[in-house]
Amino acid sequence: MKLSDLQAAIAGARVLVAGDVMLDRYWFGDVERISPEAPVPVARIRKSEERAGGAANVARNIAALGGKVELLAVVGDDEAGGSLEKLLQAEGVATRLYRDPGIATTVKLRVLAKQQQLLRIDFEETPSHDILADKLDEFRRVLAGVDVVILSDYGKGGLLHVREMIAAAKAVGKPVLVDPKGDDYTPYRGATLLTPNRSEFKQVAGSWRDEADFMMRAQALREQLDLDALLITRSEEGMTLFRSQGVAHQPTVAQEVFDVSGAGDTVIGTLGLMLAAGLALPDAMAWSNRAAGVVVGKLGTAVVHPEELFIEG
Ligand SMILES: Nc1ncnc2c1ncn2[C@@H]1O[C@H](COP(=O)(O)OP(=O)(O)OP(=O)(O)O)[C@@H](O)[C@H]1O
Ligand SMILES: [Mg+2]
Repeated sequence: MKLSDLQAAIAGARVLVAGDVMLDRYWFGDVERISPEAPVPVARIRKSEERAGGAANVARNIAALGGKVELLAVVGDDEAGGSLEKLLQAEGVATRLYRDPGIATTVKLRVLAKQQQLLRIDFEETPSHDILADKLDEFRRVLAGVDVVILSDYGKGGLLHVREMIAAAKAVGKPVLVDPKGDDYTPYRGATLLTPNRSEFKQVAGSWRDEADFMMRAQALREQLDLDALLITRSEEGMTLFRSQGVAHQPTVAQEVFDVSGAGDTVIGTLGLMLAAGLALPDAMAWSNRAAGVVVGKLGTAVVHPEELFIEG
């Protein structure tokens, strides 16, 4: 496919992202004294930055590449939830955020002084059952209008109904890609594709002795979970795709590595977008590997732009 045709296909591609969203917040300050209250430094905050993380970062990666993306998730009815929504809308993500008055929005707050992290403060609460049930109803309604579904599990409880979501998507013939968490993948059974990283894969499949053993464990997991494909992301070793037809490996194309955080979000976001644009899985994988190679060269939870990815030659 010509690059101009691919970009036109992407402009018409529609992806639904659901899962755990979070707000990454950074407070930068100066430390000049020790607190009189306790033996801790006092940071005077000079500036702050924030970024959409988790499933929200998957969605912003899709929007940045020119795709249409809807994000279905639960936040608290608080200031952080409002910030997250504003950030996402400014980046072109269509948000369907449920405000749960019973929880705080998931926030990871870092306090930094002189380039050093002093403290990270996490706010995390599990969404309530009623809100998640409403969200499942909306998921079913939105499905008809999208080409591909991505479920981004960060283990915060937003994907309580992951089984029902996978079943609903499959019933209407939409591919479902899942970024998994935890040590039990049975809720993801029947998904189109899973994207564990090395350590996530190890947690469910055990340690491998060598590459042959790794491949055997990967194919066994794929069959056991009835997946079309398993894509294991392997940091500096690139990524490997397992299907019933066989195995395909792509080494990383990263030139420089500054910050690997969020690379997994870029992988699944780009993969879903390319499938929604009509590409076959091995081609979609090659683009997502390229996108990951670009994003690890940037600081912060960054995204990739079309001019960085769609380069002739
Ligand atoms: N250190 C690295 N060197 C080169 N490429 C990298 C490196 N880390 C990540 N990548 C690229 O990014 C892809 C995804 O990275 P990784 O397997 O670390 O995912 P991840 O652990 O889910 O990421 P995260 O959880 O931080 O979002 C890899 O397949 C590779 O293409
Ligand atoms: Mg990951």
